[in-house]
Amino acid sequence: MKLPIQSKNDTLHLMKKILILLSAALVCALSSYFTRWESSSVAPLEAKSELVFPVKINRILDKSCNDCHTPYTKIPLYGHIFPITLYLQDHVEEAQTELNFVKWNEFTRKRKLRKTEEIIEQIDNGEMPPKSYLLLHPDSKLSTEDISELKKWSEKILNEDE
Ligand code: HEC
Repeated sequence: MKLPIQSKNDTLHLMKKILILLSAALVCALSSYFTRWESSSVAPLEAKSELVFPVKINRILDKSCNDCHTPYTKIPLYGHIFPITLYLQDHVEEAQTELNFVKWNEFTRKRKLRKTEEIIEQIDNGEMPPKSYLLLHPDSKLSTEDISELKKWSEKILNEDE
């Protein structure tokens, strides 16, 4: 009579495991719910960066920068899972505190110049977009052509007199 008892134990074990897994899934789902992203489509359309930059530049920014430096973050599926949500939200918030392209037209001349210099510095050092981002978004890598376009645009801003 050893075998049936053992298999009863096995069943209990299995049920315990399933229960633990279900609880974990529930905690994960609830945490994900409470940390969910506010829809970025709430931002007014007029603020969209298309209207702020030349088309060429806008295309590059959209490809490589806007996910973090505008409120128009395209959130990947895994970005809805706690605690990844918290990490990404924090990262995007920090990026927008440094530089929010949607607000560009509200910048003072001085801030525009400083941010333009920082942009050149970041792309020259290959620091933006961040390497961790490129791992999951390889298409967002700046091409040599993108870099020269961004630089041409930067030069123009730096040489504009106002
Ligand atoms: C994955 C998110 C992400 C992407 C994509 C990204 N950035 Fe950033 N960026 C950040 C974060 C976070 C910071 C603030 C922390 C830091 O400086 O590393 C930042 C800071 C900056 C700064 C300010 C740096 C300074 O001197 O303090 C500039 C300029 C910048 N980014 C430009 C760009 C440009 C241009 C692109 C596109 C080619 C880009 N970023 C793409 C996340 C991002």
